Amino acid sequence: MKFRIDKILSNMGIGSRKQIKQDARKGHIKINDEIVKDSSKIIDTDIDQIKHKDKIIKYVQYIYLMMNKPSGVVSATEDNFDKTVIDLLNEEDKIYNLFPVGRLDKDTEGLLLITNDGQLAHDLLSPRKHVDKTYYAEVEEEITEKDVKAFSEGVILTNENYKTLPAKLQIIESGYPSSCYVTIKEGKFHQVKRMFNAVNNEVIYLKRLSMGPLKLDERLKVGEYRHLTDNEIEMLKQK
Ligand code: URA
Repeated sequence: MKFRIDKILSNMGIGSRKQIKQDARKGHIKINDEIVKDSSKIIDTDIDQIKHKDKIIKYVQYIYLMMNKPSGVVSATEDNFDKTVIDLLNEEDKIYNLFPVGRLDKDTEGLLLITNDGQLAHDLLSPRKHVDKTYYAEVEEEITEKDVKAFSEGVILTNENYKTLPAKLQIIESGYPSSCYVTIKEGKFHQVKRMFNAVNNEVIYLKRLSMGPLKLDERLKVGEYRHLTDNEIEMLKQK
């Protein structure tokens, strides 16, 4: 693909466009081993080799990571008090301007997509797209068939006169506590917890298992992450 040199290098976290401009002036940028002093020059990332301070820069535009988010970290890029999911990334991944796609609560675990592809994030989060999100939940009280029916019809969220879209509730075990799978099509604040509150129950553990066609790789330990496969990226884009 054809881009300006400064755009490529700043996208890859090498420095700001201003810094890249200065580096180019000092002769620190080579394209196909020739010094290029004009950082606004357009090059073809499929053909041209870029070196910054004699280090080959392999251009990657988008990064897609799947994290098994641990409890206790926030799904944000920065936070004044808590560790963020971005803090958990390796240094080589931190250089990209990555952000989590949507939010999981601080105490929720499981599948979190982290990327720098704003278009894909927008598509997955768009309320009009109704992307299914499936969670494993443990709740304090029994879950009844009445709750299954209520979820399938949509429940009124407390403190907000809003009726959710139909959701699928599958009981794994009902008791004290109970466990279940819940699939929702929206991403309202604390949605699963509030849906259970609406049927007089309380979530005590929540883990996201899937988002659209993307499933949590259960081999990832809590806090670990990996790059998506080409196949997973393709599936997400087709969604
Ligand atoms: N619903 C919640 O209540 N919390 C989450 O983190 C995700 C969905």
